[in-house]
Amino acid sequence: MPACASCHGDSGGGNAEGGFPRLSGLAEDYLAHELDSFADGSRDHEIMGPIAQGLAPEERRALAVFYAGLRAPPPDGTPQPDDTAYDRGRMLAQTGEWTKALPACAQCHGPAGQGVGAAFPPLAGQPAAYLAAQLSAWKAGTRHNDPLGLMKGIADRLSDDDATAVAAYYAALPVTAIGGGR
Ligand code: HEC
Ligand code: HEC
Repeated sequence: MPACASCHGDSGGGNAEGGFPRLSGLAEDYLAHELDSFADGSRDHEIMGPIAQGLAPEERRALAVFYAGLRAPPPDGTPQPDDTAYDRGRMLAQTGEWTKALPACAQCHGPAGQGVGAAFPPLAGQPAAYLAAQLSAWKAGTRHNDPLGLMKGIADRLSDDDATAVAAYYAALPVTAIGGGR
């Protein structure tokens, strides 16, 4: 079993280049739900599946407690928000698109993408490639672990360009909720 830190960083801050998400400061129940989802296959992933299956349920919970309690490191090298894809992403994130029946992401993920409670994870500062991969996974059906299928319905209405744009927008937002995911 490789150390979590080898991919997710020493303090769980993630790795933008590798596309590894930040774990530090995410809500304990969210983290536990994701590890359980990797283990039961409702979130199908070739790396995280075997890792989560190799952990006992109480170990998955203990890791969730650990990462929820870590402080999120300050954002490092976040992309500069200046191109048109970013503007399109900001519009989708903050306003949504009525003609596509697309709600604003901010309605659930918070006005700054900081996450809301245990159900709605933060998007701010997560690697763009990671965020886009999640949207593709919902479209393809390889991630189907979300309550009420909320994200599947949304991802299906995003074109690939829009998914890329909104991922770029959130990746460039600073991590505002420092620490205290618990
Ligand atoms: C070899 C690299 C690697 C290692 C080691 C690794 N992970 Fe991951 N992890 C990933 C990748 C890649 C993803 C993104 C998966 C996806 O796209 O769905 C991920 C995603 C996650 C997520 C989902 C985060 C979110 O925002 O939904 C959690 C939770 C997680 N890992 C926990 C762990 C824990 C705990 C360990 C150690 C027991 C660990 N990982 C070890 C590569 C790794
Ligand atoms: C109606 C509420 C709702 C709206 C609106 C919403 N989401 Fe989500 N989103 C969720 C929920 C719930 C989850 C967590 C699913 C789970 O439990 O794994 C989630 C998870 C995610 C994740 C995975 C994060 C991670 O760490 O793995 C991404 C990426 C995401 N949403 C992007 C978006 C984008 C982009 C939009 C706007 C286009 C959006 N969401 C709008 C409810 C929503």
